[in-house]
Amino acid sequence: MIPDGYSVRPLALSDAAALAAAYDRNRDHLAPWDPVRPSDFYTVDGQQEAVARQLSLVEGGLLATWVLVHGDEVVGRVSLNNIVRGVLASATVGYWVDGRHTRRGLASALVEHACVEALAMGLHRVEAGTMLHNVASQKVLLRAGFTHYGMAAKLLFIAGDWQDHNLYQRILHDNPL
Ligand SMILES: CC(C)(COP(=O)(O)OP(=O)(O)OC[C@H]1O[C@@H](n2cnc3c(N)ncnc32)[C@H](O)[C@@H]1OP(=O)(O)O)[C@@H](O)C(=O)NCCC(=O)NCCS
Repeated sequence: MIPDGYSVRPLALSDAAALAAAYDRNRDHLAPWDPVRPSDFYTVDGQQEAVARQLSLVEGGLLATWVLVHGDEVVGRVSLNNIVRGVLASATVGYWVDGRHTRRGLASALVEHACVEALAMGLHRVEAGTMLHNVASQKVLLRAGFTHYGMAAKLLFIAGDWQDHNLYQRILHDNPL
């Protein structure tokens, strides 16, 4: 459940300014876990372009993405990326929480929210990868019912290098396709 004072809603084009501010406030907090961002990523125009791109993926059924809101600020995000239908019926969850709002259960609530939505979309499985030393993120996943199933060497280009990742998954149901 989302803690009092916070709400989660689907990403909208009107979030661009609040997102630019959130990413700017959280540069140092997110830098170890994110790709290196171009400078326009932190501008309203840059976010308007990024959000428009993401909303076209949402329209195509490849992405579902939400913002975590506190007052008039965006203080986190959760997304179901790489939505695949058919016999895989899976998506990859990604998330972050503003550095001033951590350790109050928000990421756990966001991941739970994404899993509830994934189930409602008819997906069978949600997966996630964390860098090997991202203990906080690993705790979030274990707390949300994910299990560790392996390690992928050099999986993602994060913070300027190909990084090994621990792999997690949560099976949402056992119903036939
Ligand atoms: C990782 C992150 C999402 C955690 O967000 P959060 O809202 O603080 O997480 P929660 O409050 O739901 O905490 C879940 C668990 O992680 C633990 N935790 C949170 N931050 C921690 C930290 N820095 N070190 C150790 N444990 C931590 C909590 O104590 C809790 O453990 P518990 O279940 O034993 O009580 C947040 O720190 C963040 O955005 N980090 C940068 C981006 C990132 O790593 N994204 C994920 C990429 S895979």
